[in-house]
Amino acid sequence: MSAISPPTNRLWWKQPLDRVEGTWIVIAFVWCMVMFFMMPYWHVYGKQNLANEAYRTTPEAFTAKTTAMIDKFKVREETALKIPVVHPPAGSDVYLIARLWQWYPMLELEEGKTYRLHLASMDWLHGFSLQPENINIEVHPNYEHVVTLTPTRAGTYGIICNEYCGINHATMASRLYVVKSK
Ligand code: CUA
Repeated sequence: MSAISPPTNRLWWKQPLDRVEGTWIVIAFVWCMVMFFMMPYWHVYGKQNLANEAYRTTPEAFTAKTTAMIDKFKVREETALKIPVVHPPAGSDVYLIARLWQWYPMLELEEGKTYRLHLASMDWLHGFSLQPENINIEVHPNYEHVVTLTPTRAGTYGIICNEYCGINHATMASRLYVVKSK
């Protein structure tokens, strides 16, 4: 038998398993099991992808909550687009809109305080990626993703979109400020 001629024995699947073949099947199966159990292990002990919750929402409902937060806690505006920067109370629920091709608004959080970060898309799939921490969350339309996070170090962090979302995907970047708590 070769790769181009058909097997001489047409019942090739009934031949006994070769030792080498059997060994490789066992190795592959064991490795599959290792990879499988690494998923829950890494979810608990890894630092990259946090446990998050998701709830149904609509763009209108999510925009209303975000706007209410901006109206109350806006501290300044940044960039030529006048993106509001909000400094919500420590420990509160904070909202971030993903849309073509913008993160809205900019959040200013306090070091060492725990927040509930709500994310939702207004149009289609975007990817929230916080750098350099490398926290990544897919942001789907009609879902409100909630992640509980505690910034541990003051500084300016970058938010980029890591799901291709159209012509200006590469410009969909923003900042997240973490300041020392007063
Ligand atoms: Cu939003 Cu890519």
